[in-house]
Amino acid sequence: MTERILIGVAWPYANNRLHLGHVAGAYLPPDIFARYHRTRGDEVLMVSGSDQHGTPVTIRAEAEGKTPAEVAGYFHDKFVENWAALGITFDLYTTTGTPNHTAVVQDIFLTLLEKGYLYKETVSQPYCASCKRFLPDRYVEGVCPSCKTPGARGDQCDACGKPMNPADLIGACCKLCGTAPEFRETEHFFLRLSAFEQPLLEWVKEQQDHWRLNVQRFTRRYLEEGLHDRAITRDITWGIPVPLPGYDDKRIYVWFEAVIGYLSASKEWAQRSGDPEAWRRFWQEDCKSYYFIGKDNIPFHTIIWPAMLMGYGGLNLPYDVPSNEFLTIEAQKLSKSRNIAIWLDDFLSRYQPDALRYMLSANMPDTSDTDFSWREFVRRNNDELVATYGNLVNRVLSMLQKHFEGRVPEHGGLDERSLEIIGKTGATLQTMDELLYGCKFKEAIKTAMALAAEANRYLDEKSPWKSVKTDKPAAADALYTALTVISGLRTAFYPFLPFSSEKLHGFLGYDSTIQADGWKLRRPVPGSALNPPEALFIKLDETVVEEETARLGLM
Ligand code: MF3
Ligand code: ZN
Repeated sequence: MTERILIGVAWPYANNRLHLGHVAGAYLPPDIFARYHRTRGDEVLMVSGSDQHGTPVTIRAEAEGKTPAEVAGYFHDKFVENWAALGITFDLYTTTGTPNHTAVVQDIFLTLLEKGYLYKETVSQPYCASCKRFLPDRYVEGVCPSCKTPGARGDQCDACGKPMNPADLIGACCKLCGTAPEFRETEHFFLRLSAFEQPLLEWVKEQQDHWRLNVQRFTRRYLEEGLHDRAITRDITWGIPVPLPGYDDKRIYVWFEAVIGYLSASKEWAQRSGDPEAWRRFWQEDCKSYYFIGKDNIPFHTIIWPAMLMGYGGLNLPYDVPSNEFLTIEAQKLSKSRNIAIWLDDFLSRYQPDALRYMLSANMPDTSDTDFSWREFVRRNNDELVATYGNLVNRVLSMLQKHFEGRVPEHGGLDERSLEIIGKTGATLQTMDELLYGCKFKEAIKTAMALAAEANRYLDEKSPWKSVKTDKPAAADALYTALTVISGLRTAFYPFLPFSSEKLHGFLGYDSTIQADGWKLRRPVPGSALNPPEALFIKLDETVVEEETARLGLM
């Protein structure tokens, strides 16, 4: 039975380069999931875009003397290049800067207002008299009242992790000019989150047993502590305008509008596809929607966005929010300020995308934090990709070129051992089907690699390189069997290692596409032509470990 799957992927702030933590946390898992579902024959829509509003972007722009639009445009272009290089196959990757996004956000704003889920209230906010502007929380800095570290921000102290109000900071000053801010009254729109506390609790308790435990626990605790209404406008000029007269100096808060991107991007995709109503299939008909995000974004996707959807009405709520934990680098907490980060573009300038996808899949932080170390990267690349999988493919295809005229060999009745491993290939695809369906990516890729290892053992037992001289039919049987396993591995690895799977598809002389073959074992047809193989993966020198660790500044 085919299904309809909407895949929403966290919108990265267009203010900095992407690093491996982003990829492992939020971008690789949805691509694996999308490729798997497409191969299964499901109808998939995967959308995301660059989050170009918010203080992360304006702070960078001010620091560099650029406009926020310039900064956001620059990083958006980089992200689009990154996705292509890493093989992340969005159906649409857009930005929050489109007229379509503005229209969809303003419609939701006005509908929630009309339904009484938004209201106005006057609050006191830090104001810099010398800059003549209200200061967003991140623009106020001072000494943290609880750990006494200087340089704490008005939204959070990075040293002790405490969430902050600008008024709590000791000796608060304006980040732009250093003046001590005053507090002035200003009017803002609030989202009546409190009205959704009970409906959300019921929704989470009664319907979300399939969520990962960390996501369930976090969400329940958050709800049980009580939901407070939240201001969803700010006194800034970069962002989506409030669609009412008299609010020219205010913009809609970045988090309120960024989550709406999932819907606006679906509508933009439908427009571009030539069927402007097509988005409805994913939002108003039977469809499971999955949101892939890092764990710092959980409450926005399990509480605030569902509340907004409930309030608006008539749109599907999230089905699952498979949020990942963090990736550490060389056992240190990833920290941009200390520069312990591995930048994606830099990584891809030296190594194959599939090597990275393999490492991050086999080592995915799906239920607990995991570590990226260069030693482990080189080991996995050399032992698993090159020596186990790549070598299997190479041995079998080279022998077929050399001794069987580059064709799939004719085989006789296969012995029990051969039938067993062919059966195991089908069974592996079936097991992986269940694991991938349940977003258990790490377990799924381990299952595939175990089959490759088993195929190597099979080949060693049969030693066709010997029998080809003494008993050619026996060699033909063994190579046909191994080729069949390889054909299955091409599919099994495809969601994780798309570049090498596509290459392998070509070596096998197959027509059409891996996706079109479906999530099942395609048996090679005796007599049909194969293509000469090339190495699927590149072996790395051990010196890479030292070089790269030095580059990180850890030696
Ligand atoms: N820009 C936010 C971040 O990088 C994530 C936004 S996700 C979305 O943390 F829900 F708003 F789309
Ligand atoms: Zn100032």
